[in-house]
Amino acid sequence: MKTIQLRAPGGLDQLVMVDLADPGTPGPGQIRVRIHASSLNYHDLGVVTGNMPTVDGRIPMADGAGVVEAIGDGVDDFAVGDHVVSTFFPTWLDGEPVAGNFATVPGDGVDGYAREYVVTEASAFTKAPRGWSHAEASTLTTAGLTVWRALVANGGLKAGETVVVQGTGGVSVFALQLAKALGATVIATSSSDEKLERARLLGADHLINYRSQPEWAKPVLEITGGRGVDHIVEVGGHGTLAQSIQATRVGGHIALIGVLTGAAGPVPTAGLTVRQQRLQGLIVGSRQHQKELVRALDALSIRPVIDRSFALADIAEAFAFQQSGGHFGKVCLEY
Ligand SMILES: NC(=O)c1ccc[n+]([C@@H]2O[C@H](COP(=O)([O-])OP(=O)(O)OC[C@H]3O[C@@H](n4cnc5c(N)ncnc54)[C@H](OP(=O)(O)O)[C@@H]3O)[C@@H](O)[C@H]2O)c1
Repeated sequence: MKTIQLRAPGGLDQLVMVDLADPGTPGPGQIRVRIHASSLNYHDLGVVTGNMPTVDGRIPMADGAGVVEAIGDGVDDFAVGDHVVSTFFPTWLDGEPVAGNFATVPGDGVDGYAREYVVTEASAFTKAPRGWSHAEASTLTTAGLTVWRALVANGGLKAGETVVVQGTGGVSVFALQLAKALGATVIATSSSDEKLERARLLGADHLINYRSQPEWAKPVLEITGGRGVDHIVEVGGHGTLAQSIQATRVGGHIALIGVLTGAAGPVPTAGLTVRQQRLQGLIVGSRQHQKELVRALDALSIRPVIDRSFALADIAEAFAFQQSGGHFGKVCLEY
């Protein structure tokens, strides 16, 4: 089967196509899935560029979507022909988080989905939303579920609340779509006026260019009559957190998701304290969260925005495109 492997020490020129043996038939509790799509995430980019070192020969990509081809004994939640999507934490099924690192995450600590077939535990997948393409479904494993956890599972988003989404990458565009679908008012930020116009077409109520307005908390406070927003989907990290604390209402929620401005830096903790805000770090979510997300998406009419899709063989080109920052929403692989 066609498979992409990453040679140590990593780098886009170290992604090689190999022909591996077919994984065979599923054992008890397992399923065999024909993977048809994956989507690129900032985390996958860190792995393939060698910034998040992994083992020689690792199969990259955390996200995988496809069709169940065979089921093993004892598997009762899937049938042959089901469209399915992989989970980010195959061992975190429900309840409190079980992992504080990426040791169990496909494409990082274990092999991922840049391959045509996988035989694995059935619990490493859920059903995909009805009628979605494989590429669309693949965006849920990492980006989609992170948004669901940030806004719904942790955030308890209610219709009528206000949300800031930072930038127009995969996480933020889906956050914009989900927040709007759930009845929120959305303030979108971007470094690009052209991307802001695309955000407006997706339903963003207010637009701020964070490059021309680096102190973007000010317009957020003006828009909200001085109150601040209820939720911020914080993908910037320490470099944007000071603005987020100012832009969030007293008692509001900041979902601390990303590291786009770096892994560590000073944070105005006193501002967070006096504004009595909840700063909640998170990594994606559990299988149960994913089942709840899929159920919600079966009832909503949103579809993830896929900027561009590449063939599996063009994976390096796909990551170079993501690295350029030219994308709006998701970049996918289809195979
Ligand atoms: N904790 C988790 O579970 C989790 C899950 C998924 C992702 N993440 C993290 O979330 C971040 C985004 O991931 P992604 O996959 O959506 O990445 P992505 O698709 O590559 O998005 C990158 C976009 O972020 C925006 N951006 C960059 N610097 C920014 C800044 N200083 N302020 C505001 N926006 C900025 C830019 O949008 P514009 O071009 O519009 O300016 C850029 O295009 C990454 O740090 C990633 O590691 C975390």
